[in-house]
Amino acid sequence: MIAHVLGARPNFVKAAPVIAALSDRRRRGGGPEHEQRVIHTGQHYDERMSEVFFRELGLPEPDVNLGVGSGSHAAQTAAIMIALEKEFIERSPELVIVYGDVNSTIAAALVAAKLHIPVAHVEAGLRSFDMTMPEEVNRRLVDQLSDLLFVTSPEAIGHLAAEGVDVGRVHFVGNPMIDTLLSHIDSFDTEAVRAAHGLPARYIVATLHRPANVDDPEVAAGLVKRLHEIADLADIVMPVHPRGRKVLTEAGLDDHPRVTLLEPLGYVDFIAAVRGAVAVVTDSGGVQEETTILGVPCLTVRPNTERPITITHGTNRLVTAEGLVAAVEQALVSVTGEREVPPLWDGMAGPRIARVVEERLDG
Ligand code: UD1
Ligand code: UDP
Repeated sequence: MIAHVLGARPNFVKAAPVIAALSDRRRRGGGPEHEQRVIHTGQHYDERMSEVFFRELGLPEPDVNLGVGSGSHAAQTAAIMIALEKEFIERSPELVIVYGDVNSTIAAALVAAKLHIPVAHVEAGLRSFDMTMPEEVNRRLVDQLSDLLFVTSPEAIGHLAAEGVDVGRVHFVGNPMIDTLLSHIDSFDTEAVRAAHGLPARYIVATLHRPANVDDPEVAAGLVKRLHEIADLADIVMPVHPRGRKVLTEAGLDDHPRVTLLEPLGYVDFIAAVRGAVAVVTDSGGVQEETTILGVPCLTVRPNTERPITITHGTNRLVTAEGLVAAVEQALVSVTGEREVPPLWDGMAGPRIARVVEERLDG
């Protein structure tokens, strides 16, 4: 049995095509499917941070939800570990598949490794080289514990080799987040989203949730000031991640007639909104990749990115808070030129991962 451990919003988007491909082995010309078990840690639990993705992305209902909820890093990671240890001992999975870089990912990898259960890491080898990011800590450790490492971007192989990972375990398979994007491309109805939220023809989508941007009220207030200056140029629609809701609201984010704050959007409405935007202001990892494919200018309010291919091949630019308004002004007047799609971001990452996993389990 294969156990998939999911917990946070980006995990759902990455896991959907992998689970679908593993469920579909016969249609891919293979043998009988391996049994799968979907374990939701409960790291994200609001309907709009979790359930909506299961509904929209055709994910199977979780077989179990560990219901750990929020907490400090140690409290949350420990709660996931304790619950997962029990689960893995009871169910003895042959392989545990983990996704991305969230606390659920490291908790699962650590528990599985100690129980001598092989771990497969989807989205291995990305590095921001910024150890102040909790995700960077998680990524490095998960990769050390993994038996199969699936990478989305060629430079990740070099990062893993430099950290002493046996490259024989590394498989460059493309990007499952882009599988999800491409398989839903006909569902994104920008006009409907625009009408639903009263958006004008030209608008900007903003998302912010990194601790470095939204935890400190002073930093958040500085960003709100810039967002208001941007809203003088073009309307902003911002589906607000629960992490930043309080601080950003208290900093007066809503106090501008051209800023529309929304609850987090479901995947289909969110991508529809992004697709129709003149630019995106974000600190999300996934959104840097999605805008690369959609060709929408992306201004990432971070000093670094673990996804440099979105800059070399995509529409992404790193910006400081101070440089944000000028960068938006520029994005509003520039035309996005011809771009090269990152290698293997072709919608087939799920089946590639499934084949490697099946070979491993069959053998
Ligand atoms: C987590 C990941 C981050 C990822 C993000 C995706 C870690 C360390 N961080 O950050 O890498 O980019 O998810 O969205 O794993 N909350 C709710 N409802 C929810 C979930 C969270 O209100 O359904 C609030 C709680 O106040 C919670 C806070 O958001 O304390 C932060 O949640 P948490 O899961 O700890 O981290 P994220 O900031 O969501
Ligand atoms: N997303 C969404 N609704 C929103 C904001 C984001 O569906 O309101 C999607 C987004 O398209 C991407 C994923 O959530 O597929 C990324 O999640 P997030 O930005 O929370 O995490 P990160 O990628 O930064 O870890």
